[in-house]
Amino acid sequence: MRTLKLASLTALAAGVMMAGSALADPITIKFSHVVAPNTPKGQMAEKFKELVEESSVGDQVDVEVYPNSQLYGDDQVLEAMLLGDVQLAAPALSKFQKYTKQLQVFDLPFLFKDMDAVERFQNSETGQKLLTSLEPKGLIGLGYLHNGMKQLSASEPLRVPSDAAGKKFRIMTSDVLEAQFEAVDAAPLKKPFSEVFMLLQTDAIDGQENTYSNIYSQKFYEVQPYITESNHGLLDYMVVSSARFWNDLPDDVRPVVEKALDQAIAYGNDIAAQENQEAKQAIIDSGKSEIIDLTPEQRQQWVDAMKPVWDQFSDEIGQDVIDAARAANNEG
Ligand code: LMR
Repeated sequence: MRTLKLASLTALAAGVMMAGSALADPITIKFSHVVAPNTPKGQMAEKFKELVEESSVGDQVDVEVYPNSQLYGDDQVLEAMLLGDVQLAAPALSKFQKYTKQLQVFDLPFLFKDMDAVERFQNSETGQKLLTSLEPKGLIGLGYLHNGMKQLSASEPLRVPSDAAGKKFRIMTSDVLEAQFEAVDAAPLKKPFSEVFMLLQTDAIDGQENTYSNIYSQKFYEVQPYITESNHGLLDYMVVSSARFWNDLPDDVRPVVEKALDQAIAYGNDIAAQENQEAKQAIIDSGKSEIIDLTPEQRQQWVDAMKPVWDQFSDEIGQDVIDAARAANNEG
């Protein structure tokens, strides 16, 4: 009898200790991204960490931010997420084609007239539905994050599409972007973001497309003497988590974390345009890269050369999705 009592007391004590340690263990959210901290995405990630720390769940949730592909490149991060090794990421919308074809709409060249149109489309019923397009793969879309419009950088001036012919351009892992460069007889190469500087520096490639904030913070402008302000395509992100991780967050924690994320995304979206403007000015001030403005006629040549790409992908994306995105241009 006495032994039995002792045994059950020991079991009880062990149970209490286990419950205690489970309570004390913080939930870790590793946020992995590929850009520098001084970019819209880098700033948004830091803001999210700060807001969670200040919140009512600050002692239960630990946010760790890993910038500059320190933890994963965009080609591995979603797989790592599904394995539970990382909990948050915000890859470019161009990097999801293995998981869904619909998000390819965002890559269509010259689709959005400005960032207000992008915002309207993302907030529309179709745009919001696209946030759920990754769910069959176990990923949950938590919001869109802006960077901005892409520009073309190169080792030689690009004014008309024939200037790009025969040149090698690094692209993200997107068949639409591949078709876009093939449409001007250039040679696109799908490469991770972390390799771009080295590829440019060693002349393994001639150019690339990106926003001013990425061109500046990754120092591409130091090895690319020309940047054509083409605004030909969009670089935006989707903030994602694994559905399993997100839905398993305790009921008193998830809404607080979600609110912090929404606020951080709103903050990132607010500063994105200014970050790009400041990066452009810093590039001009450096004197290392010349920014080329296109005449309306020159720009129209790029539009005429690249727009046929839309038809190549309308079946995969869905004509209704493309039409909804186009409609957002006229609602402003
Ligand atoms: C790129 O690979 O060029 C971009 O997706 C990097 C980023 O996340 O802005």
